[in-house]
Amino acid sequence: MPGDKSISHRAIMLAALAEGTSHIAGFLDGDDTRATARAFAQMGVRIEAARACERIVHGVGLHGLRAPDGDIDCGNAGTGMRLLAGLLAGQAFDATLTGDASLSRRPMRRVIEPLTQMGAQIESEGGMPPLRVHGKRALHGIDYDLPVASAQVKSAILLAGLYARGETRAREPHPTRDYTERMLAAFGWPVEFGAGFAKLSGGHALRATEVSVPADFSSAAFFIVAASLVPGSEIVLRDVGMNPRRTGLVQVLRAMGADIREMNARGQSGEDVADLIIKYAPLRGIDVPIEVVPDMIDEFPILFVAAAAARGTTRVRGAAELRVKESDRIAVMARGLRALGIRIEETADGASIEGGRLEGGAVDSAGDHRCAMSFAVAGLVARAPVRIGDCANVATSFPGFKELANSSGFDLAAGTP
Ligand code: S3P
Repeated sequence: MPGDKSISHRAIMLAALAEGTSHIAGFLDGDDTRATARAFAQMGVRIEAARACERIVHGVGLHGLRAPDGDIDCGNAGTGMRLLAGLLAGQAFDATLTGDASLSRRPMRRVIEPLTQMGAQIESEGGMPPLRVHGKRALHGIDYDLPVASAQVKSAILLAGLYARGETRAREPHPTRDYTERMLAAFGWPVEFGAGFAKLSGGHALRATEVSVPADFSSAAFFIVAASLVPGSEIVLRDVGMNPRRTGLVQVLRAMGADIREMNARGQSGEDVADLIIKYAPLRGIDVPIEVVPDMIDEFPILFVAAAAARGTTRVRGAAELRVKESDRIAVMARGLRALGIRIEETADGASIEGGRLEGGAVDSAGDHRCAMSFAVAGLVARAPVRIGDCANVATSFPGFKELANSSGFDLAAGTP
């Protein structure tokens, strides 16, 4: 499985701001994380790619970035843009963050609001990209209650907090992935954090370190569901990141009847990692517990496919955030699964999916990598071929998906656009 996207973004960012040379192993060489690496190269950071999944970052220190040579294009990456907004708010220069069509429609007020409270000045297009982040602003710490559970917002605040006078605190309505906190600690920055809160003070330094990035659980998720759905399957996925704030899908699939075993559970660079063995098992629909939703926020497209192939009804609620991801994932998955013969009712914050027989047909991923890969899994169990449109963005998070999928028993062919 490819390296973790969330961790790869953060590794580049902290390594760039550290003193000394950091080595990143297991880096995700995808479009999103390459865009983040390119952003720092534009700001004067030398980054070597000895191999595709490795980066050597020559850190310039907290105040060593220089004004970029043009706009910074974050591509499709919400994580890249939101975290960079926080980090750029503390610089001595202005910078403009742009993105592709999908990113240009995503809400940025959630970061602009707290960063402005810290003293930043950020202009947007009615709360959406491009973002013009002004430099030379004196930032100060805030004590912020996040209105939505978002690791990106929390991380933007913490990264601005590195440059702020005094203490910066973030509190979340539900705990989210704590990669920024864990990685700041690994780079030697004093940070206190626990379930749903984090705090740090400005005025320290980041020290270069070695980062070993685990495999991305969200990428593994497509294979976990594929193996669960295809009779006779048994697959092993190695070195998968098992941070509890990411692995809600395991809990939900097990409640649906899935056979998922964890082996060799261990720590690696401050992260939980394990090998997973997944065997075919018939699934039944469940009501997804609302408190698990943030722990599987990126896995709903593939859960919808598992639900479509399960016996009985699966109900999802409390997941309105899905409507502002790379696409409106509730709408895109509902439309696609309906085209494959599944009965699915949308609600504002979820869906009710009746398991049934998946037929062949044409579906549209709306440029969303996770929807495209989910439809590929649907095609694996459908009774006739599924034609998946607008799927080039798979490379944002999972370069080589088609080849790896085909080597494990999928039958994916490139179509004509
Ligand atoms: C991410 C946080 C989540 C997730 C995204 C990656 C991160 O978004 O959906 O894919 O790396 O911090 P939110 O912060 O919007 O919940």
